[in-house]
Amino acid sequence: MSYIKYEQNGFVGVLTIDREKALNALNSEVLADLDAELDAIDLDSTRCLIITGAGQKSFVAGADIGEMSTLTKAEGEAFGKKGNDVFRKIETLPIPVIAAVNGFALGGGCELSLSCDIRLAAENAVFGQPETGLGITPGFGGTQRLARTINVGKAKEMIYAGTKVKAPEALSLGLVSAVYPAEELMPAAMKLAERISANAPIAVRACKKAINDGISLPIEKAVEVEEKLFGDCFETHDQKEGMACFLSREKPKPKAVFTNN
Ligand code: CAA
Repeated sequence: MSYIKYEQNGFVGVLTIDREKALNALNSEVLADLDAELDAIDLDSTRCLIITGAGQKSFVAGADIGEMSTLTKAEGEAFGKKGNDVFRKIETLPIPVIAAVNGFALGGGCELSLSCDIRLAAENAVFGQPETGLGITPGFGGTQRLARTINVGKAKEMIYAGTKVKAPEALSLGLVSAVYPAEELMPAAMKLAERISANAPIAVRACKKAINDGISLPIEKAVEVEEKLFGDCFETHDQKEGMACFLSREKPKPKAVFTNN
């Protein structure tokens, strides 16, 4: 039995962390199942992925504290690497990933959402990095991605003091793009995923790669990353069709082609 549920809705994949009795906490098995499920996604037929948590209460309440409680230094480092490798796989997945944060996003849960491209939250979402209260640092990328996503001082406050942030504040911090009543979260995530999927897949993937690869480079190198990916879009079916439709004032056609020909 897997701790991950996966559903395909047209071009959109919906991946659910399904360990509801532990508020979807991430133990080694959940991480291994997540890793395997990410590898199994058919990237030819999937244009956007949504990640959410099972149940009404929690997205992911962190890494599994029971499992971590007896780790040695070396095992702790290895556990951090296990989480980091899976989250890096999400961050570098060629297609956009939306976190639909339906409740607690604490520790590894906040970090999971930060490895996604876009975060949407339910009104009951709570974000936080409570690790220092447990005697550890955030271990699945939180010290790095939170400080790169929101104001550094606020990220440091959240991490040093364990300050929790509810959905409205997360919105004002730019940690999430939008907040919805709980029952509207998944429909809103689907709607956004479908809007992304309606655009040219090669161009959308190139945008993700350009942003991710360029963000930590000096601007003169970063624009070179964009130039290459911009060039790669030319001569593709969707580029030719999309521009021809605009010029002939025809209605844009659905973008159905992934190959470069
Ligand atoms: N690890 C293991 N089990 C967890 C868990 C976690 N991170 N979070 C919740 N659970 C379990 C609880 O132990 C409980 O299990 P039992 O029913 O078997 O006792 C079950 O989920 C329900 O939890 P609560 O009874 O505590 O539910 P609550 O509504 O009273 O509280 C909560 C909810 C505030 C989220 C609380 O569960 C909590 O504080 N959880 C821990 C949050 C946390 O500290 N996360 C960070 C972990 S460290 C980390 O993630 C390191 C890293 O960066 C890699």
